[in-house]
Amino acid sequence: MSAPREVVSHVDLETYYLRSFGCQMNDHDSERIAGLLEEMGLSRRKSPEEAGLLVYNTCSIREKADSRLAGHLGAASRLKKEDPSRVVVVAGCLAQSRRDEFFGDFPFVDVLVGPQSLHELPGLVRRRANEGGPVGAFQEQTTRWSADLPRTRVTGPSAWVQITAGCSNYCSYCIVPYVRGPEASRPAAEVLEEVTRLAGSGIREVTLLGQNVNAYGNEPDFAGKETFAGLLGQACQVRGIERVRFMTSHPKDVSDALVHLLGGHNQVCEHLHLPVQSGSDGILHAMRRGYDRAAYLGLARRLREAVPGLALTTDLIVAFPGETEADFAETLSLVEECRFDGAFTFVYSPRRRTAAAELPGRVAPEAAQSRMERLVEVVQRIGRERNEALVGQISEVMVERASRHERGEVMGRTRTHKPVNFVSTAGPGDFVLVELLEATSTSFRGRQVS
Ligand code: SAH
Ligand code: SF4
Ligand code: F3S
Repeated sequence: MSAPREVVSHVDLETYYLRSFGCQMNDHDSERIAGLLEEMGLSRRKSPEEAGLLVYNTCSIREKADSRLAGHLGAASRLKKEDPSRVVVVAGCLAQSRRDEFFGDFPFVDVLVGPQSLHELPGLVRRRANEGGPVGAFQEQTTRWSADLPRTRVTGPSAWVQITAGCSNYCSYCIVPYVRGPEASRPAAEVLEEVTRLAGSGIREVTLLGQNVNAYGNEPDFAGKETFAGLLGQACQVRGIERVRFMTSHPKDVSDALVHLLGGHNQVCEHLHLPVQSGSDGILHAMRRGYDRAAYLGLARRLREAVPGLALTTDLIVAFPGETEADFAETLSLVEECRFDGAFTFVYSPRRRTAAAELPGRVAPEAAQSRMERLVEVVQRIGRERNEALVGQISEVMVERASRHERGEVMGRTRTHKPVNFVSTAGPGDFVLVELLEATSTSFRGRQVS
């Protein structure tokens, strides 16, 4: 057996550029990528033109994510022609899902690294610099928690804390289980240690992160014996943490204990992102979501009763294969009944390897577009109505940052995660009381009263 080759020479790279294209988990991975590269001595640059190492952290959830990336890779290819010593890295879910053909399609790419292999990035960059040739690493499952890698955060009072990796739900449209592997839960002690460390460094708010956080601890071989509600309750006990959020929840796994915590715990914010996807039983079944319309409506009603002031947000997909106008009407009526505070809306996009990609009944693009427009209109109207009903109230806001548009203004968020813009001398992490003066469908203007 030959020992792995020692890497001796260093890398002649001093600067990097990094861009993320995906979800919060992808952003969180980018914090780890930045941490690893900075540990190697590289410093970050704002534009690819100024950098020697170019990293694109990709997403493959929908076709659009692919095409957005293509433009950026075109620019990377031109920059590399200008200066062939540049190194181009493609990381993340698309690197994982397209590993077999990526180097063929984009020959100027030097390093491919999947989301379960981020810890290998420094070694891959060195290998590429020393030995040449394209290199890649793609583990199927999480064995080394990216959460344990060094991290470089954008500064602010709020931080993500990863509690699960991967997903074992296999919703028929979704590529995540194929690129992130089956669900794995991080031991509670490690999660709490990270929250404590963050609190010590001035963080006031944490968001527990996972594809399906309320399935935390559900794997048969998980030794932690902890439930999501249990972990959430413990995170709230950490001194210095004023607000705890979590993302994303699956309707089939919302426990009574979780509803209780949402309704009655000072630190747990009254916001639940609870993707419903569709209002039609036939479509929900074909999506393999594990609940029906009545179950979701019942849960939404229970939540609204138990959690005063709850903001309920969701994800919706239109034009799933076989979706009829009648199915779509069910989605519209569910949105009306649940009165969501906000929703992310997507046109179904077939993904390789997923079960739904094989289904008949593709919806024509014009019909899909029309449904999308009608849905967005309803979502926005209800969001605006819900926010307008709050005008005049005094709300506790945590300041996140200075406004990007107006001097002397700051942007903060309510406990329900709604952005509020107002004039203030308060800084990031300060808690202030704000009177809500004007509402849009997604945000407020306010006036500080404390
Ligand atoms: N784990 C989370 C988020 C998954 S991805 C959850 O289960 O809720 C975020 C959203 O993207 C999903 O909720 C879904 O609405 C959407 N999505 C996923 N795959 C899609 C596809 N193939 N086409 C269109 N939208 C999709
Ligand atoms: Fe995808 Fe479903 Fe898992 Fe969410 S729960 S990541 S939609 S498979
Ligand atoms: Fe996230 Fe996209 Fe991967 S949504 S998990 S970066 S496929």
